[in-house]
Amino acid sequence: MQKKVYIESYGCQMNVNDSEVVASILAKDGYTPVQSAEEADLVLLNTCSIREKAEYTVLQRINEMNNLKARNKDLKVGVLGCMAERMREDLLEKKKVVDLVVGPDAYRTLPELLEKVGTGQKAVNVLLSREETYGEIVPVRLDTNGVTAFVTIMRGCDNMCAFCVVPFTRGRERSRDPQSIVAECRDLWAKGYKEVTLLGQNVDSYKWKPTASASDAGAEGTRSVDPPGRPGTDGSVPTDFADLLELVALAVPGMRIRYSTSHPKDMTDKVLAVMARYDNICKYIHLPVQSGSSDVLKRMNRGYDRAWYLERMASIRRHMPDCAISTDIIAGFCGETAADHQETLSLMREVVYDMAFMFKYSERPKTLAARKYADDVPDDVKGRRLQEIIDLQKTLSAQRMAGYVGQEHDVLIEGVSKRSAEHMYGRNSQNAVVIVPRHADGAELLPGMFVRVTITSATAGSLQGAVIKVRDLQTATA
Ligand code: 5AD
Ligand code: SF4
Repeated sequence: MQKKVYIESYGCQMNVNDSEVVASILAKDGYTPVQSAEEADLVLLNTCSIREKAEYTVLQRINEMNNLKARNKDLKVGVLGCMAERMREDLLEKKKVVDLVVGPDAYRTLPELLEKVGTGQKAVNVLLSREETYGEIVPVRLDTNGVTAFVTIMRGCDNMCAFCVVPFTRGRERSRDPQSIVAECRDLWAKGYKEVTLLGQNVDSYKWKPTASASDAGAEGTRSVDPPGRPGTDGSVPTDFADLLELVALAVPGMRIRYSTSHPKDMTDKVLAVMARYDNICKYIHLPVQSGSSDVLKRMNRGYDRAWYLERMASIRRHMPDCAISTDIIAGFCGETAADHQETLSLMREVVYDMAFMFKYSERPKTLAARKYADDVPDDVKGRRLQEIIDLQKTLSAQRMAGYVGQEHDVLIEGVSKRSAEHMYGRNSQNAVVIVPRHADGAELLPGMFVRVTITSATAGSLQGAVIKVRDLQTATA
């Protein structure tokens, strides 16, 4: 009999993609994904530890599992991801309803762990790995629109930003074999997908060094696609992120390519040049700044200062004047003064971000900041500063969006607008949401179509457009 699994994902895009890897591993073990916890034999919560609030939300959700178990005695509940890694056996102790705890590098062992759970025991595996990339596993796409998909290119993080729990929950940085990345992108294209987002905690430090034995064997590390004019298809070519982007751009020339997340200290001009060179690489960069104050950045251990960040920004604009930029900002990090906060606001005004994710600082156990600095900005001050940052960003987003009015853009249609069945939504290369009429150019627009659009009006959150014609994205040009 087919067993049914319901997977709920919290946190980042990487987690969403990990859930798809988990679904693939479980498919081999006889599980089919279902759309609600109520129909499932196994509920897995793929969790996030980034801020205390994220963990709180999941802890509440775990409590709700008691009601489900009361109705379905055979139901099993598992906690995956970053909270599993951070809290380990404690989670089983504190939450009796949990049967299974599995960290981000241990998903291959799920079938054995579930066997143990099946006999009424609890099971845990939170071992982190230096090698695991789930490279050859083909993810089972969950909740997909059939148009856009995530492809994880690396796991873990070696950066040690003072505020961040990720190095503790996801372990050391490791890169996935470029050949398996290219193969996954080609497979997605063959299945009708039109956009991939290459994912990593810090994509700029992607590095593939073929090992002697692997390339000798002609297996791992062999580059199946090589940009014209580049020497060597013998597997001995090391691949950095710029090389990988180019490989993917050439391997799937009709596919739109995005990536996330860049790190200002590692973002190279080589990457920017590749982005500028290929039409199918979207002109959008998410470049978290965290703070506009060099003092705060130093305490955050970010590895760059304000001037360096602004220089990277200038380089983006030199390479791609039409590139959109978004960021992450933390309000109220340890020791942040009113003057530091003003520097964040002034940097925002200088850059004029298209979009930003903005957070109150939340102390996380084990991090450098938790060990070294007092969480000394009072909560109401953090709240006020965050509000000022949010208010300013609203104005800046509106300004950027208004700048698109009158321009022509290529929009990839993703689905029906939530507000009106007579409209479709999609995104331009800059990642702004564009709303267009459902019927245009004598045809009904469908998800996956590319349309040429004139932008007619804008709000801070989206653009409205009139379709000029339905067209295919130009294939990549070198
Ligand atoms: N408190 C608040 N925000 C945080 N982030 C990471 N750690 C913390 C924390 N302890 C934010 C950063 C990061 C984004 C994913 O989450 O801005 O870029
Ligand atoms: Fe959350 Fe970070 Fe883990 Fe993603 S990597 S789930 S954002 S803690």
